[in-house]
Amino acid sequence: MNDAPQPTAPAATSADATADIRAAKGAASPSAEPIIKMEKVVKRFGDAVVLDGLDFEVAKGEKVTIIGPSGSGKSTVLRILMTLETIDDGLIYVAGKPLWHEFHNGRLVPASEGHLRAMRKEMGMVFQQFNLFPHMTVLRNITESPMHVLGLSREKARKRAHKYLDLVGMTDHAEKFPSQLSGGQQQRVAIARALAMHPNIMLFDEPTSALDPELVGEVLNVIQRLSEEHDLTMLLVTHEMAFARQISDRVCFFDKGVIVEQAPPEEIFSEPREERTREFLKGFLDTLNGH
Ligand SMILES: Nc1ncnc2c1ncn2[C@@H]1O[C@H](COP(=O)(O)OP(=O)(O)O)[C@@H](O)[C@H]1O
Ligand SMILES: [Mg+2]
Repeated sequence: MNDAPQPTAPAATSADATADIRAAKGAASPSAEPIIKMEKVVKRFGDAVVLDGLDFEVAKGEKVTIIGPSGSGKSTVLRILMTLETIDDGLIYVAGKPLWHEFHNGRLVPASEGHLRAMRKEMGMVFQQFNLFPHMTVLRNITESPMHVLGLSREKARKRAHKYLDLVGMTDHAEKFPSQLSGGQQQRVAIARALAMHPNIMLFDEPTSALDPELVGEVLNVIQRLSEEHDLTMLLVTHEMAFARQISDRVCFFDKGVIVEQAPPEEIFSEPREERTREFLKGFLDTLNGH
């Protein structure tokens, strides 16, 4: 992965950086090596400017929640990172390498398909609508990409799939089809599928928004366990404020394609500084703070 010149010069080794983050949990640590770095990113759909010069960093191992009104650009950020959407301007670095560009004779040029494919391996994404392959069993949903993208043997891919099925509590459902599962079960399979690619970064786009209320808990529990037991960087869009408060190192409030305010959860949920954040959180804050 080190075939391109390193555009950023991280001061610390990644092990040091991770330790820094742990020590400073909740505080943005400027010396830590960012695993995601977005610089002045612009995204337009037609005339609409959806991301308006967005600067955004996530440190290695950090758990960051994005909150904000519908249409503020939250999904677009994740989809750009997952290379499902292009950018119109700015630069993004993932794990120290440009995502949408690559170095060619020392110059940054638009990324080739091969570069994008390599970069994509850094990330796994979980969607609101699960997006499982409907014609494949649970097991095959999980083994497909490790076999065809990573080149794992069937046996290795199966072994890996069972490990993650166990982690999400779905071992008994390996031979079922998605339509035979509840939404919560499908989403847990989708999480196992993403993990089976061994990403360093997990992106969650409102993973519980499509679920019946009684199924939300089982998915949040899995995500919580992941965040506690695995050294993953997590970027999570959610409207589950109590959950965001529990698992996040940092919460970012998005509005109209910019970050209005970002702070550790205990700050932003008790004393938001910006009027727009207060307005957005009004209903949630009363419930959260027990008024
Ligand atoms: N493929 C697309 N084509 C046109 N407009 C889009 C597309 N995807 C998103 N948008 C627009 O971009 C804005 C931000 O969308 P999105 O990132 O999905 O917001 P959020 O996830 O915060 O609700 C919205 O106004 C949305 O309508
Ligand atoms: Mg969205």
